[in-house]
Amino acid sequence: MPCRILRSLYLRANGEIPCDDDFGEQINLGWIPKNGNFSPNEMFNNEKYKGIEEAFLSNTMPWGRICNHCALNRPTDPVDNHLRSRVISYFQIEPTLACALGCPGCSRERQIRQRPGPHTLALNQLQNLLDGLISEGYVVHNIEYCGQGEPLDHPQFSKIVDATRTAYPNARQRLITNGNNDYFKKLEGTFIDEIMVSIDGATQNSYEKYRIGGNLDTALNFTRNAKSSNKDQYVVWKYILFTHNDTTQEIELAESLAKDLGVDRLQFVRTHSVGKSVEWENRPLPLRWVNSIDTSTPLVERQNQF
Ligand SMILES: C[S@@+](CC[C@H](N)C(=O)[O-])C[C@H]1O[C@@H](n2cnc3c(N)ncnc32)[C@H](O)[C@@H]1O
Ligand code: SF4
Repeated sequence: MPCRILRSLYLRANGEIPCDDDFGEQINLGWIPKNGNFSPNEMFNNEKYKGIEEAFLSNTMPWGRICNHCALNRPTDPVDNHLRSRVISYFQIEPTLACALGCPGCSRERQIRQRPGPHTLALNQLQNLLDGLISEGYVVHNIEYCGQGEPLDHPQFSKIVDATRTAYPNARQRLITNGNNDYFKKLEGTFIDEIMVSIDGATQNSYEKYRIGGNLDTALNFTRNAKSSNKDQYVVWKYILFTHNDTTQEIELAESLAKDLGVDRLQFVRTHSVGKSVEWENRPLPLRWVNSIDTSTPLVERQNQF
């Protein structure tokens, strides 16, 4: 498929369904009602979704310039509308736009200014969506909690997980978090298949240059507790490389901390944003630990997984 939009679904905190989560997210494809029934069949057959399929079938992209800038654009892939077969491979939920940190490259504050509210997902809206999917026979394979805020800053995050688990007990679930929360207060008793913690640095001094307002020890403790509380949870330390955190010594320190925390993967990620690491732009990282991996951009990594 030229991009994953006809096999995915993205629910924003305000109940909007946009065109995936990169450049295309400025396009609205529908809304989930606050009260009343929701029909996915109706939405997936609206003019916008029809336009997407027609564009793909005629070898073009639906939103022209917007698609050209979208990191999820895969123009040479075959067209296959999984939504018609009632299969959603990847369902992303944005629990909230709230976050206590102020990462300079994050679009959260702009989105708060520009998007209609509310900025926190209402549980009844999520339930309306899940009820519609179930009643019309949709299968969901993967659920991811992310979006443009900090998922764990939703006041009832574990209730969101309860609702999706009840609806889709076999879906694989993934949480992407900054880890600046107490693991037990937020997640005790809530199983998540994969927890990816964004920790860009191995010392407080370098970590807080991007994760402004964040506390490295809190994030490391969160990560340790995520793994030790349930060994079946796959825990990933995601480390974005910037010029301020990319020395060989700091990479080695991250590896030794990650080993001590017991994480399943320490994933170094390249970024295109301001302050990106230049040192390792075109050559492999000097990794020593067997669980460390060196990947390109977060979006390529996601595309490969779903
Ligand atoms: C907007 S955040 C929301 C989730 C959570 N608050 C967090 O920071 O992990 C979504 C993803 O964007 C990534 N991200 C943040 N700043 C980035 C940057 N400058 N370049 C690439 N990815 C970035 C985060 O690591 C995270 O995986
Ligand atoms: S922690 Fe995540 S949501 Fe918060 S400002 Fe940073 S990237 Fe954005």
